[in-house]
Amino acid sequence: MIQVGKNVILCCMQLIRSTKFKNEEKDFREKAMQEKDLKQLLGEMSLKEKVNQLLQLRGDFYTSDDEGGITGGVQELGLTQEDIDLAGSVLSLSGAEKTIEVQKRYMEKQPHHIPLMFMLDVIHGFRTVYPAPIGQGATFDPELVQECAEMAAKEAAVSGIHLTFSPMVDLVRDARWGRVVESTGEDPYLNAAMAVAMVKGYQGDDLADKDHVAACVKHFAAYGGAEAGRDYNTVQLSEHTLREYYLPGYKAAIDAGAATVMTSFNTINDEPATTSKWLMRDVLRGEMGFDGVLISDYAAIAETIAHGSSADAAEAAKKAIIAGVDIDMVTNIYASNLVDMIEKGEVDEKLVDEAVLRILELKNRLGLFENPYKGADPLQEKEVILCEAHRELARKAVTESAVLLKNDGILPLSTENRTAFIGPYTDNKEMLSAWAIIGDSKDTVTIKEAALKVFDPEKTSYNAGSHMVGDDVLLLGFTDVSDPYQGVEQETLVKDAVAAAKEADVVVMPIGEHFTQTGEASSRAMIEVPEIQMELFREIYAVNKNIVVVLFNGRPLDIRELSQKARAILEVWMPGTEGGSGIIDLLIGKDNPSGKLPMSFPYCVGQVPVYYNAFSTGRPMVPGRIEKFKSRYLDIPNEPLYPFGYGLSYTKFEYSPVKLSENEMTADGRITASVVLTNAGPLKGTETVQLYIRDDKASMARPVKELKGFRRVELEAGESETVTFDIANKELSFIRRDGSFGSEAGSFTVWIGGSSSTENEASFTLKALQQDTE
Ligand code: BGC
Repeated sequence: MIQVGKNVILCCMQLIRSTKFKNEEKDFREKAMQEKDLKQLLGEMSLKEKVNQLLQLRGDFYTSDDEGGITGGVQELGLTQEDIDLAGSVLSLSGAEKTIEVQKRYMEKQPHHIPLMFMLDVIHGFRTVYPAPIGQGATFDPELVQECAEMAAKEAAVSGIHLTFSPMVDLVRDARWGRVVESTGEDPYLNAAMAVAMVKGYQGDDLADKDHVAACVKHFAAYGGAEAGRDYNTVQLSEHTLREYYLPGYKAAIDAGAATVMTSFNTINDEPATTSKWLMRDVLRGEMGFDGVLISDYAAIAETIAHGSSADAAEAAKKAIIAGVDIDMVTNIYASNLVDMIEKGEVDEKLVDEAVLRILELKNRLGLFENPYKGADPLQEKEVILCEAHRELARKAVTESAVLLKNDGILPLSTENRTAFIGPYTDNKEMLSAWAIIGDSKDTVTIKEAALKVFDPEKTSYNAGSHMVGDDVLLLGFTDVSDPYQGVEQETLVKDAVAAAKEADVVVMPIGEHFTQTGEASSRAMIEVPEIQMELFREIYAVNKNIVVVLFNGRPLDIRELSQKARAILEVWMPGTEGGSGIIDLLIGKDNPSGKLPMSFPYCVGQVPVYYNAFSTGRPMVPGRIEKFKSRYLDIPNEPLYPFGYGLSYTKFEYSPVKLSENEMTADGRITASVVLTNAGPLKGTETVQLYIRDDKASMARPVKELKGFRRVELEAGESETVTFDIANKELSFIRRDGSFGSEAGSFTVWIGGSSSTENEASFTLKALQQDTE
């Protein structure tokens, strides 16, 4: 009854809205504008109106009770009601009814009926939350990632959002950096594939389509290179490293049509990225051909003052507009300075015109001039958000993103065994991530909720066993923990858990980082499972050795002890709304794990940064030989604990030796490399077959190997398939000392296998072209 009542109200609202549309038709354009119309519009705008198109304000300025939130925040920012009335876009305001209402009020005042753009961080899902980007990287499945982005776009668009601040394409090599969780890992090739998939998923073929939103590629550039993994820290990279490893992901997203780009907080080679004319004008717009809207990160223009690179707000504004930054996110830097500076002749008005035109073009592409509400629809919103199809997709994504790090045969579990679930993630709904802004943990399926559907209640117990973090973490200022067991003594939690473990055949331990231990401003110097949970693990291990660890985390962790003692480890990242369901599907073998690591798991933090596509030193270690004057540690191995590309299955895959179609090729030719993949185990499963290549000798040192292709292959037990990769000049090329991109004659090694540590190799020679030798 109540539901029907609600729907009737929503229907009426819908009707009222469409009538208003009709009545006000004169305010909206009938069809998208042409470039000349946009230019004419630009010409009609006052300078103040133009400058304010470059201002983005937080949503609360439009929803607070006192008209436009003129007190508090806005005053502090030195802005006026007029600034709010003329700002060009809004950050973090969503919900169909709310955005419609704000847009309507805004349009009534906007002198040229230029609509607002609503932007939000829709990072891995909207209300239906799928695995965090690091988990999506682990799927090695761009098609699935695209579907997830499509689903997120649909939910966001129906709630009134026009643009998402995603994908984050920052290459990451340092597990201490908290934002590793938002990336798809350490490899440029994988990053590029995932970035393209996300852009396509969000944007579809037409930005004006009601189910799609514009993408924003971030953070340009190399934010992931923060020194010592500390967030916002300095980035120092050689230009070669920047271009060859860090930029390709952004470039791929731009080539895929990403409508917008966001600047990064960091300095890059001594200059704040946000105000770097070289980076933004020469590299991004000039070389990469980006012609869309460039937005600063949150207050990043203002932060150039703290960097010591701008003397004051006026200089920061001037540098940013010269660099080509179109939108100032949430500060008054542009709004309070540019009009004056232009009037005094200190800034060229053309720079503002250029930026405004790009913003108008984007609004036009989004279809906002014809329909400022775009996809926002209160009625549809109820149906689309968290619908069954979205939940199913999220569940599938959980099963594909999980990586089986260890299994001595204990998995999959039999539901007939006596099983004890012990760990703070056993019945915990908070498995979304710090960036699941609209996600609501109360929608989440916990491990216990999913297990109750399949495990025999008589033989199964569920215990938290421990608080999520101990005083050691809390004392360091980490206060952001909602603890369902607050007030319960740790000793009591442990005691109950140990008693349950003694009774069980198998103990499943869902443990790991609290979700706020990763994300922005969440760098960690000690990358371990919180000590209080490790103490629990040891207590359980003392009474029952049959432990399966289900690991929750947003970054690679040092899990040496777990990997020695646990019989199995299933890495599940921050899995999202359907976390519990997907995890149980995997634990009981309904699905077979197929994820592969998108980032190396270090042996310990002292090894960080550790990544597979590194260079050989002049004194490489010979595996198995201990020699003093070699490039190595005295106390730990050089290799990570688990390498990039690694991940097990419940079945067993066998690779034939690599077969090359030819042993020689020229730069204008191509060869193929293939293997026969056999599922030699007892179950159906999916393997990600990976192709790596090394240029053995070149004019510059080259990485020991680089990913150049991958393919997910599903095989029934006993089935075989030939997997073939094409190798052409592109796969063999690199950026040379003089900046040119090309290949060099000589020998190349090719590997095909199930991880970056595969030794399944063959080699061929790239012969010089006739004209090169003449
Ligand atoms: C983050 C961005 C995010 C922006 C808007 C910043 O703090 O660095 O990634 O898109 O806030 O929420």
